[in-house]
Amino acid sequence: MRVILFTGKGGVGKTTVAAATAVRAAEAGQRTLVMSTDPAHSLADSFETRIGSAPTPIIQHLWGQEIDAQERLEDNWRDIQDYMVQLMNWAGTETIQAEELTVIPGLDEIFALIDVKTHVQSGKYDCLVVDCAPTAETLRLLSLPEIMSWYIERIFPVERKVVKAVRPLVSRMTSLPIASDQVFEAVERLHRNLDAVKGILTDEAVSSVRLVVNPEKMVISEARRTYTYLGLFGYRVDAVVVNRVLPPDVTDPYFGKWKDIQAEHLATVHESFEPVPILLSRLFDREMVGIPLLEEMAEEVYGELNAVSILHHDDPIRVRKRDDGYVLRMRLPFVSRDDMDIHRRGEELVVRVGSYKRNLILPQSLKRMVVREANFAGDHLEIMFGRGSQPADPERG
Ligand SMILES: Nc1ncnc2c1ncn2[C@@H]1O[C@H](COP(=O)(O)OP(=O)(O)OP(=O)(O)O)[C@@H](O)[C@H]1O
Ligand SMILES: [Mg+2]
Repeated sequence: MRVILFTGKGGVGKTTVAAATAVRAAEAGQRTLVMSTDPAHSLADSFETRIGSAPTPIIQHLWGQEIDAQERLEDNWRDIQDYMVQLMNWAGTETIQAEELTVIPGLDEIFALIDVKTHVQSGKYDCLVVDCAPTAETLRLLSLPEIMSWYIERIFPVERKVVKAVRPLVSRMTSLPIASDQVFEAVERLHRNLDAVKGILTDEAVSSVRLVVNPEKMVISEARRTYTYLGLFGYRVDAVVVNRVLPPDVTDPYFGKWKDIQAEHLATVHESFEPVPILLSRLFDREMVGIPLLEEMAEEVYGELNAVSILHHDDPIRVRKRDDGYVLRMRLPFVSRDDMDIHRRGEELVVRVGSYKRNLILPQSLKRMVVREANFAGDHLEIMFGRGSQPADPERG
């Protein structure tokens, strides 16, 4: 079983690359389902065919699904929402406002991901290709199971016990709505589902994320940030797809400057993501819709590669608390250990060891800290961060 997620900034070509990958997988004989969790679906446009909210056959071995987020929201959130509305009513909020307040933006999309679990468990498919919403939403979505687990494992058992004990008493004394067993069950079910989704998506033998970018400054910055956060949440990136690269046969001087700019951005992509494989797709001379063009795009992106296999075993950066600071740990195999230079540039950390250079965007927790020291532990580089005002010195390992 394989699950491949595609994400990236708005408009970079996520849906197109996801669709192309799915066509390629299906044509290699893998039973493939391409599903979109982005409420603004465009899979059907890519395939130029109707795609329903249930898996719809497209070609042999290929199905598509545009998840009805509203429906998923109803299934997963209704009981919980009803209780929240009751609470707000009790506190004096009009029902209509309370209804609005309990619609948490982006929640529908999160529930759409629960379908990944359903499909993996069904055993009907060999490969799931997920066309995600633009990065910011996807990240929030992927971090939710973590947040939910934290809440549910620490606070929820206490709450539930307390409620069990005081429910008879409180209901006699006040009209405060007390969560019913049904509400608790809904929360538990949701937690189980999200936990299972998280389990699948962080299983390195099953799932990987492919980042789609264009050779443009903003797009790449966002992808780098995404890369850091995906790693922190335990999701593995197995490829970066650079889409819309000007092909060599474009020689019109009008595009000369654009080609230089793209070359420069491509270099940044290499510095930021290597050793993750970087796959390229040129800017085609037409919109890439319909099976034949999607096949052509897949050929361009994957060439000899098997689109379904895990293209890279990423070992994402990790940040752990240690004493009064943090340790950032990243794998840096095959580098010579002398000549190490680490410095901060705003929110960016630049690591240079010998001829190897790696730029990464620091997570929020480390932005206000300074680099204290860096050492190798096996083939991992450990960088210690602490509070302080002294400039981050380059350290020797
Ligand atoms: N390499 C390419 N060459 C030419 N056209 C392309 C290429 N990649 C994508 N397109 C076209 O660009 C348009 C946008 O692509 P797509 O819908 O895949 O982007 P997206 O990242 O999914 O957007 P959104 O963020 O809105 O979901 C589509 O019309 C698609 O056919
Ligand atoms: Mg899209």
